[in-house]
This record gives sequence, C-alpha cells and structure tokens, in this order.
Amino acid sequence: MRIIIEISYLVASILFIFGIKNLSSPKTARKGNFLAALGMFIAIVVTLFDQHVLTYEWIIIGFIIGGLTGALMAYKTPMTGMPQMVGLLNGFGGGASLLVGLSEYYKMKNFPTWTFNVSTDITIVLSLIIGAVTFTGSLIAFGKLQGIVTGRVVKYPGQHPLNLFLLIGLLAAGAFFVIDPNLEWLVLTIGGVALVLGVLLVLPIGGADMPVAISLLNSYSGLAASATGFVLQNNQLIIAGALVGASGIILTLIMCRGMNRSLMNVVMGGWETAGAEGPAASTTSPKGQVKAVDSEELAMLFDAASSVIIVPGYGMAVAQAQHAVRDLTNQLEAKGKKVRFAIHPVAGRMPGHMNVLLAEAQISYDLMLSMEEINDDFPNTDIALIIGANDVVNPAARHDKSSPIYGMPILNVDYAKTVVINKRSMNVGYAGIDNELFFYPNALMYFGDAKDAVAKLVTEIKHL
Ligand code: TAP
Repeated sequence: MRIIIEISYLVASILFIFGIKNLSSPKTARKGNFLAALGMFIAIVVTLFDQHVLTYEWIIIGFIIGGLTGALMAYKTPMTGMPQMVGLLNGFGGGASLLVGLSEYYKMKNFPTWTFNVSTDITIVLSLIIGAVTFTGSLIAFGKLQGIVTGRVVKYPGQHPLNLFLLIGLLAAGAFFVIDPNLEWLVLTIGGVALVLGVLLVLPIGGADMPVAISLLNSYSGLAASATGFVLQNNQLIIAGALVGASGIILTLIMCRGMNRSLMNVVMGGWETAGAEGPAASTTSPKGQVKAVDSEELAMLFDAASSVIIVPGYGMAVAQAQHAVRDLTNQLEAKGKKVRFAIHPVAGRMPGHMNVLLAEAQISYDLMLSMEEINDDFPNTDIALIIGANDVVNPAARHDKSSPIYGMPILNVDYAKTVVINKRSMNVGYAGIDNELFFYPNALMYFGDAKDAVAKLVTEIKHL
C-alpha cells in the first residue's frame, strides 16, 4: 500500500511540474491548469487513503462547503478581480498551515505516548509563523485590492524597526519553544504575534505594488505548505509547497523587473513613495495641446495604413473591450492590413492579464507578441493603437530621472508613424503620473470608453 501511495504522490508531483511548465505560455496554459488540477485530485484522493482517517463525515462536509464556495468564487469573480481572489486563496493556504501547526502541537502535547523532537518542533514553529504571516498579510492584500482597506502607502514612525523587532522576537521565541515545547502560552504567542506581523508587513504596501506583494505571499504560502508537509511528514505537500514557493518567487522577480522595482522595496513595504496613489510630486507635468480625433477621422487614417500594432492595457480590461477589439482586428485584416498585438509584461493588473482577455475573444496567440519581440518593429509601423494603456507606454520611463517609473522598460509606441491613444480622459494610470506621450506631435487622442470607442471605429471602417 505504502509503495502505491508514494508512486501516486510522485505522479502527482510530475503533473504539477508539467502543469507549471505549460502555464508559462498562453498557448498551453489551459492544458497546464488541467494537468495541475489532475495532480491535485490524485494527491487528495491518495491522501485520504494514506492518512489514518477515523471518520469521513467532516471531510465530506468540508469538501462540499469548500468546493461550492471555490466554484462560486471562480464563476462570479470578474477578470479584473482575479488578483484579489488569488490573494484570498493564498491566505486560506497560510491559514491552513497555521491550523495544522497548532493541531499537531496539541496532538503531541495531549497524547502521552507522543514525544516532541527537535525537527518536528522546528517545522511546527515555521508552519505557525509563515502560515500566520501569510494568512493576515493576504487578507490585508485582498482588502486593499477590494477597496475595503486603504490602498494608500501607510507609514508611521518606527515602522521598519518595529517589524524587524517582531521578526527577531518570533525567531527567539521559536528557539525557546524548540528547547521547551511544553510552553503552551509560547506557541499561542508565536501564532498571535505572527498574525500581527502579517498585517504590519502588508499594510504599508501601496495599491500599485499589491499584485507583486500577492505573488510574494503566494510564494510564502508555498513555504508554509512545505513546512506543514514536514510537520505531517507528507512528501507530496513538501514537493507541492516547494514548487509554489519557487514559482511564486520567480514570478515576483519577473514582475519587479517589469516595473523596475526592487524586491526589497516591495518586501519592506512603502520604503519608497513610487506606486503611491495620486500624482507623483517629483514629476513635471507635460503641457501643451492634445489633438483629439473622432471615429470617422480615425477610420480614414486606418484605411490608409498597412500595418497596425494594438497595445492593450488596463482600460481594455475595465471596459471588457476585447470582443470589440477582435472585431476591429478581423475588419482590418479583411482589408489586407497587418495587425499584431504588443503585450507589455505588466500591462493590466496581473501577469498575462492581456493575453487571457484577448484569447477569451478568440484572438490568435500568434498575433500576440511580447515586448522584446515587437519593440523594434514600431518605427516601421503606420499606426500604434493604444487601448486603455498608460504607464506601459509612457516615454518618461526612458529619460525622466525624477519619474517613479524611470527605468521601467516600455513599449516604443512613440516611434510609430502615428500613435492613437484611446482612453476616457487625460487621467493618470496606476503609477499616478502624467503621460507626455499624449502631447507628442505624432499622437492623437481618441477619447471614450474602450468598448464603445472601438465598436464605433469598427462601424466606421465597415462603411468606408
Ligand atoms: P494604467 O497605466 O493603469 O492605465 C490604464 C488607463 O486606462 C488609465 O489611464 C485610464 O485612463 C484608462 N481607462 C480606464 N478605464 C477605461 C475605459 N473604460 N476605457 C478606456 N480607457 C480606460 O494601465 P497599463 O498601461 O496597463 O499599466 C499597468 C500598470 O499597472 C503599470 O503601472 C504596472 O506597473 C501596474 N501593475 C501591473 C501589474 C501586472 S502584473 N500587470 C502588477 C502590479 C502593478 P482614463 O481614466 O482616462 O480612461
């Protein structure tokens, strides 16, 4: 029996690895998700046989309530709400690790035949600390993105020394626990202080950094699961947790690079002011007249163009304009134009946000090119059409050292012969800074909600 269980765990782990590999490309992401889900299904079924389950009734009740809640959440959550949903799920993972750590502690304490040993004590402490920090940290992250908790950078005197003090205190208390595991109050204190630390670590982080923080918390939840795996001596949990921990930190680093922010900056929470809400004080606002166009003029411009690069951004997601964008693509292709999409790594509010939306509208993956693949093509392009993007096309990132986004790689849309920017107003994007691109001589503003504006453009192009 044992060997079957271990082999099944191995199969599940291999499915997780292939799942993650497939998730790295939008083309294979669905398959990756399926493989990982299959791996999880195998892991759950096998665990139910593996562990000494006394009665299944609570497991079935939990399965029904949890399964229904999860399915309902996944069904109801809009694409724009995905980061906070991931945040909440990370939190549940951390909470589970915290509870397992506590229950294992009481199991050992209350059964006279059980003995504490150093390695189990260490893993219980790790499970408690990482689980508790992940739990409350993720709840705050969820609250910030959902608008329940302020999205601003929260700062107070002595913030970083206090966090450091609590962390050192937790590690010292953990060491005492390993020396004397009978100190029940110490275990509860460790859990309680770690819960507070989770709040204090995430509260200062501004809304702009929150998706990065969530990715980091995802990594923490993997570490918490791994620690729990050691507590329960379950190889599957150790491997799955390690995979989540590693992939979470890799994703975090990719996002930091895409936004030109250091990981330390995110971890320390609000150490710098970039990413805070509201316009950044250090940036000089670009001035001048913008040139606005209507759908009729724009249709004529497109009629004369032979190559178009569409740059989607957060506004396309908000307006749910992807289907209208697909119609536009079809219409332009039918007229013999070359149409491609330029996808910035941090366009929107989560990794792959734009790819997912465009794919949902049946736009071919072959048309979606990454920033590295397409950036050199802008000078040979007639029209760069920006739909609800702002920060990822802000040329200040290249030259304005006082800008919070200075150094962030951007899409070179301004090198195209004509740049058309669709958004509702002159409002700032997520980084809270003005965009000089709108005032460039080759830039035209096409104001309006992305869905309506693109639909109008499609109608005009049809009538030409
Ligand atoms: P943003 O810079 O946030 O700009 C989006 C623009 O869309 C806004 O300026 C807004 O202008 C416009 N908009 C909003 N609703 C619209 C609608 N219904 N129709 C048309 N336009 C609409 O978007 P971006 O260029 O995609 O950049 C993403 C930002 O998020 C970056 O700063 C990035 O660092 C940050 N971020 C991204 C991620 C990931 S992983 N993607 C993670 C963390 C942070 P109006 O109000 O004038 O319409």
